[in-house]
Amino acid sequence: MDSHHNLKQFNTLGLDSVCDRYVRINSLSDLEALPRDLKVSEVLVLAGGSNLLLSPEINRLVAHIQPRNHIQLEDNLVVAWAGTSWHELVVWAVSKQLGGIENLALIPGTVGAAPIQNIGAYGVELKDVLVWVEVYNWQTGGYHRLSNEECHFSYRHSLFRYHDQPWIISRVGLDLRPNRPINLSYPALNQYLADNKNPNYADVAKAVTEIRQSKLPNPSQLANAGSFFKNPIINRNTAERLEKKFKKIPLFPVPDKPDMLKTSAAWLLEKCHFKGKRNGDAGFYDKHALILVNYGQASHRELMELIQSAKKTVKSKFGITLEEEVRIV
Ligand code: EPU
Repeated sequence: MDSHHNLKQFNTLGLDSVCDRYVRINSLSDLEALPRDLKVSEVLVLAGGSNLLLSPEINRLVAHIQPRNHIQLEDNLVVAWAGTSWHELVVWAVSKQLGGIENLALIPGTVGAAPIQNIGAYGVELKDVLVWVEVYNWQTGGYHRLSNEECHFSYRHSLFRYHDQPWIISRVGLDLRPNRPINLSYPALNQYLADNKNPNYADVAKAVTEIRQSKLPNPSQLANAGSFFKNPIINRNTAERLEKKFKKIPLFPVPDKPDMLKTSAAWLLEKCHFKGKRNGDAGFYDKHALILVNYGQASHRELMELIQSAKKTVKSKFGITLEEEVRIV
């Protein structure tokens, strides 16, 4: 165990952040070696660091799940160790002609982090294929499997989101199959593949990869943490009121919630002139308003000021409260 470890290279926003204690987790036995007497508030589980905004000082033990791919077939399910790269799992599934996660190509981060915010893109969410999540309880030293239902998944949300249990996700089980229908419901993806009469999983993964590369900055070239806010879900009355005033406001149906509509956080931010706006080295990306970026030496303060200003402006113009997708620690 190291003390005063700098996490700068382990968070894709590239922020300087020093933690009290740091331990590398490579395997189940490393999980089992964690001290049992730690409270939930005393531990931060870090994996790919692609959805985090870290404070300059973290007064906790950081358990860092190390990158290591381990994927196997078990009872007709694809079972992957938490430290497996999510994108490499997609590549593996596509190479085996197993369908279900091809729309989720190129999402940064690890398999273990994926259930926490129910990762989703291009018409598919992890919950559509997830069968179970295995967690390790560091206080009891035991493992426990939660079914899909028990995870309480919804848009960018799950039971794990608020970390009120002494749990570390160790493995997930996914139902990926050779006969799953292709999902081209997302208009941008459908358009991209318009000339392909019979796309396979590899074609879809390639299309998603290319669309993402054209829109989103690569964290290894420009530090960022993906979409910073969730797309707000508003009720129909609010949507109708807004539509009268802002004719072009994007509105999308929400599965299983007929009274609600999803709007676009990127559009709201753009209309409030935050696309490309900077505060020192902190900024909203000039090609996609929803991506908060660190142009070099952005400080935690500069980022937080920009976030607060964006939330305040969107609230006063549209009456909508933006909620962070990225976890602020
Ligand atoms: N738009 C703007 N201005 C912009 C960018 C987008 O007005 O600068 C509007 C356009 O109307 C566009 C709409 O926003 O049609 C949707 O844009 P996009 O297709 O890029 O998707 P998004 O809603 O911004 C969500 C996810 C992404 C995911 C894509 C594709 C959230 C918070 N974000 O973004 O996920 O890749 O859809 O499914 O749900 C992530 O979570 O980190 C992430 C990148």
